[in-house]
Amino acid sequence: MTDKLNLQELVRRAFQSEIDMGVGEAIINKQATLPSQTVVVEENKQATTQVTSSYANLDEHFAAISSCQKCSLGKTRNKFVYGVGNPNADLLIIGEAPGAKEDELGEPFVGASGALLDKMLAAIQLSRQTVYIANILKCRPPENRNPLPEERELCFPYLYEQIDMIKPKLICTFGLVSSQALLDTTESLGGLRNKWHEFRGVPVMVTYHPALLLRNPHFKRDAWEDMKKLKVSYESMR
Ligand code: URA
Repeated sequence: MTDKLNLQELVRRAFQSEIDMGVGEAIINKQATLPSQTVVVEENKQATTQVTSSYANLDEHFAAISSCQKCSLGKTRNKFVYGVGNPNADLLIIGEAPGAKEDELGEPFVGASGALLDKMLAAIQLSRQTVYIANILKCRPPENRNPLPEERELCFPYLYEQIDMIKPKLICTFGLVSSQALLDTTESLGGLRNKWHEFRGVPVMVTYHPALLLRNPHFKRDAWEDMKKLKVSYESMR
């Protein structure tokens, strides 16, 4: 009886997640597979710049880098936004940079776009506790401007060290800035979506940033398609 109720509750929550995401489809179709022609793993140049971590774990790494003053954002930030989630996550989500709320609380994706990210994860039965969430930049750029090339260059090694320690099986980049930065490309988001890329042997999916989805809800359907593909790959890799 309890199991039956739990199952009903899970199904109800899955439907609710889709409604929240604004797509209203049936629950995740586990039969869905990535069409083979879309699985194009593209080499990227960043991957050849090997940065390996000499830290025992993420806590030690955080302690070592959280007072960083390598770029000017160190002076304007309130909190260093390291990352959040499961240190052994199979899925790593990479966003752009902290916004005002993240800067205040020291955690990625806690503002409005974070609430949508939570719903996107819930729609594929994941959560910020099961995945790991980090950004290209650890500190908020003033007025939420895009990260400058030199800020990216200086901050990248921290993310690479995190990846080296977390050892995700899949990476999902949210939005153009994080996708271009991780994949070291100037390709458009449209050109990057719907194919698999690779970062140091880890498959990378590119999808829309939740902030963009909030401004342009008509992209939610495509984002939902991305989430379903991500879920299928996530399950197949575990
Ligand atoms: N947008 C991002 O890309 N990252 C955050 O942490 C918050 C908003």
